[in-house]
Parts: sequence; structure tokens; C-alpha cells
Amino acid sequence: MSALAFIKEFITRPAQVASIIPSSKAVTKKILDRFDLTKRCVFVEFGPGEGCHTRELLRQATPDSEFLLFEINHTLARHLEQQFKHDKRVHVIHGDAATLPQELAKRGIQQCDYVLSGIPFSLIDIEKKRHMLKGVYDSLRSGGIFVIYQVTDELRRHALPLFQRAHSEYCLLNFPPYFIISFFKEPKEGDSASQRNGKH
Ligand SMILES: C[S@@+](CC[C@H](N)C(=O)[O-])C[C@H]1O[C@@H](n2cnc3c(N)ncnc32)[C@H](O)[C@@H]1O
Repeated sequence: MSALAFIKEFITRPAQVASIIPSSKAVTKKILDRFDLTKRCVFVEFGPGEGCHTRELLRQATPDSEFLLFEINHTLARHLEQQFKHDKRVHVIHGDAATLPQELAKRGIQQCDYVLSGIPFSLIDIEKKRHMLKGVYDSLRSGGIFVIYQVTDELRRHALPLFQRAHSEYCLLNFPPYFIISFFKEPKEGDSASQRNGKH
């Protein structure tokens, strides 16, 4: 998909697509540094758009990992299906990221290791935002990480009561500049070894 086609989707649905151009390579690099892809993982991505981060994540991930891509925009979802049709690790879900718990259950996946999100949380109403954050927290294994990139860092105050810790940085090498924030679901005493190690 050309950058022009992405721009067209932004012009048609600005509140949904939320960015006029795909993220820069600098953002992708910073995002990739946040995950350990050397081991099998169940990786969830909210709002992959035209797949700029997904392509790099797949390049580094193990052959037995699984990727669930939630993309609400019809044109972008079809494009992702086409782009990754030969990669058995990828499942494109043309729908709302809010359905994560149900989509995992449908596939018999108990928990995931990572959730990466580029969706515009700041435009989502507070009740839905809280509901989605709870869904992400419950879907992550203990020790799992939720990473977001967006224009504001307002999600911190909604996510931190749930997650135990956050790490934030500001990336100027993007238009618009993004906060990249990791929220950590720390292992708790009493977690089983399989919960901590991310066996699915
Ligand atoms: C800011 S763009 C990010 C696109 C791409 N990941 C990038 O970095 O260039 C946000 C993306 O989230 C998608 N999106 C917005 N709300 C969504 C939702 N509730 N569920 C799934 N995808 C959503 C949009 O269609 C768009 O592709």
C-alpha cells in the first residue's frame, strides 16, 4: 500500500486512522527494542495500519510465534490480509481491539505475551477506555508487556492503577512526535511457573 492510500484513509476517517502518514522507522526501531522476540510468543497488535511495525516484528519473531492483528478500518484490514497471506503466524481480525478477550478465547489462547497499540486511545470515551485496559490487562500473562505509541501520554493515568509499572519516552523523529510507553504486568507471588514463563 502506498503512503498515498494511507493518507486517503486518514482523510476519509481522521478520528479512526488518527495519523496522516505511517509511523517512522525511528518509532519502529524504538518499539522493537521493547520486546523479546527470540522466544515463541503470542503477539497482539492493535491498529497495525498498513503494517509498518508488523513487518519488522515478523522478521524478528520465531517461526512458531502467533500474531493477532486487530484493524478496524476495512481497507487497511484487507491490505494486511493480502500482505501477510503467506505467513501462517498471522491472523488478521477486521474488528475492534475491544474484542481482544473474546478473540483469544475463540482461538483457545489463554493469554498473550505482548500487546502493541497504535490506536488513538485519547479519542475513546472513558468507560470504553477502562473496559479495554481491563481486557488488555486480563489477557496478558504475568510478566507481559503492553506498549502504546500516541500523541499524548494521557493513558498513563488510566493504565497505571492496573499495571504495576510504566516506562515512557518521547520520540521526536516522527510526524507527529509520539510518546512510547510500556506498561508492565509484573509477576505476582503465587503465579505458577507456566504463567510467568508465558506457556500458552
Ligand atoms: C495512528 S494509526 C497507526 C497505524 C500504524 N500502526 C502506524 O504506526 O503507522 C491508528 C490505526 O488504528 C486503527 N484503529 C483505530 N481504532 C481502532 C480500534 N478500536 N480497533 C482496531 N483498530 C483501530 C486505525 O484504523 C489505524 O490503522
